[in-house]
Formats: sequence, C-alpha cells, structure tokens
Amino acid sequence: MAESSGSSKIPTKIYETVESECLAFVKECAAEFRWRDLSKDVIMDMGCGSNLNCCNAILKEFPDVKALVAVDENRSVFDNVNEKDERIQLCVGNIIKRDTLKEFEGKMDKIISTNLIHQVPNKKLAFENVYYMLKPGGEAAFLFALDTCFCPFMKAMLKDPPHQAIYKGPDYSTMYPEERRSQFYKQMLEEVGFHNVRTKEAYHEIPYDSDEACSDDLYEGYKFSFELPPESVEDFKVKAFQIFMKTMEIYGGKPPSYRSLMLSIMGLKPISTSNLKPEQTTV
Ligand SMILES: C[S@@+](CC[C@H](N)C(=O)[O-])C[C@H]1O[C@@H](n2cnc3c(N)ncnc32)[C@H](O)[C@@H]1O
Repeated sequence: MAESSGSSKIPTKIYETVESECLAFVKECAAEFRWRDLSKDVIMDMGCGSNLNCCNAILKEFPDVKALVAVDENRSVFDNVNEKDERIQLCVGNIIKRDTLKEFEGKMDKIISTNLIHQVPNKKLAFENVYYMLKPGGEAAFLFALDTCFCPFMKAMLKDPPHQAIYKGPDYSTMYPEERRSQFYKQMLEEVGFHNVRTKEAYHEIPYDSDEACSDDLYEGYKFSFELPPESVEDFKVKAFQIFMKTMEIYGGKPPSYRSLMLSIMGLKPISTSNLKPEQTTV
C-alpha cells in the first residue's frame, strides 16, 4: 500500500456490489497486515450493517477466525439476521459514544470498518474509540468515502427552486472538503496514537442493476432530506433520476452507477502505550 505522502495513482475499481467491495477490502487488509492464522483473533466489524458484509468476507477468507463482533448503532439492522455463524456476536454500539463500547475496552485484536466513517461527523472521536477498544499491537482498518457522485447530484438538485424550497437536509457544499484527503486523515490517526499509518485512495464504481434501481435508490437515500407530499413522490423520482444522469456526464455518462473516491487507511496500536494514550476528544 502506498504511503499517503507519495503520489499514489488512483485507479478506478469497479465492484458489482458493496459485498464484493468489502471482500476486496478484507483481502487488502490481509495482504497489508500479512494475516495468515486468525484462529486466536477476535475481530470487530464496526458499522456492520444488515448484511454483515465484512464479517462474512472474513469468514470466507479466514474460516478459522476465532470470533467476530458485529457492531451497529441501529438495532433494527439485526432484525433480519437469521442464520449466522455462531462465532458472530451482534452488538448495538455507537462509534462516537464510548460508554456504548465499554465492554470491549482493550479486547479487540483487529477492528475493520467499511462505509461508515464518512457518515460520522466527529471522525477523530471515532478513531479514538477504535484505538480504545484495540489490544496493544492491535490493527485497525477503515474504508470510507472522501467524495461521492451524490455531491454534484445534490448541488444540481438544489439549483432547482422547487426542490430547494422543500429541502431540509445537510449542507452538501461542505460535506467532503477537498483538503481532507489521505494526508489529513493519516495525521489524524497519528494524533490519536496509531503507528505505521498507511493510506490508499481509489475511485470505486458500483453500477445500478437498472435505471429503476437507481431512481429508487435516490428516492430512498434522500426522501428524508425533502419535505415531500405523497402525491409528489413519483414526480420526485423522475426528476431526481434525470438530474442524476445529467451529473453523471461529468464521469462519462451511462450506465447509472454510484461513484466515489474511497480512502483505505490502516494503522497499528503500539505494543507499549504508556505516555501515548491521548485525551478523549469531546463531541
Ligand atoms: C453504509 S452502511 C455500511 C454497512 C457495511 N459496513 C458495509 O460496508 O456494507 C453504514 C452502517 O453504519 C451504521 N452506523 C451509522 N452511524 C453509526 C455509528 N455512529 N456507530 C455505529 N454504526 C453506525 C449504520 O446503521 C449502517 O448500518
């Protein structure tokens, strides 16, 4: 993995699904940290989501793994988890609320988190809490978006006065600042106490199965950001899709797909942490 200070090329990686993206990230972790025998390791999947993608990828690559802890702040993601490997423990916990993670203090050998950190406003606190849960010598690996195609999409949506009038979501113009790239987050992890921090940026692309799937996804993803009367839903879906496809032109056009600039960042908690334990950031 290239150091962030280097001018690492940013290849485009196309994944069929988020599941395949998570599997690729687990393989990247395995190569980077030289994972071989995980039969003594307890690994946490933070922000695991309902499909437990990272847990399943780890079980696939390392069937002998000792145990997995799947954590998500949203209890309902576990509602439909029926059949799971008995080594997976499901837990409700919030990466920015340390009191919800107390039982894991200093107990994890490895922590992996995909597609979560970009949603967390206080990223430093999130990294501190991961550090807190790791054993000395433990490893952390995060995959998250530095920018996504939804930014130009939302900016274009909000140029339309009727959409602007009913918008109540976050400010997209400041969501993925250009100055916050791999070097910024590398420094943040080092300030938290991580050693040997490595980063890699890459463009990821996940195609939608159909135009309809794209339109449904835009609606599901943004329905809470707009005050939409029920009779306007179909119209909203049509307009949102048209605007999304227009903004896709900056990426070269069809087929509709979700595109993002992703950062994978990994670090080690040093074996000796005396004098290194940082103060906890306040929210
Ligand atoms: C986009 S999903 C990613 C799921 C999975 N990691 C993947 O890559 O397929 C993000 C997940 O993180 C959870 N989440 C959001 N904020 C969280 C927080 N502060 N602490 C823990 N989980 C959180 C959400 O409930 C959701 O299940």
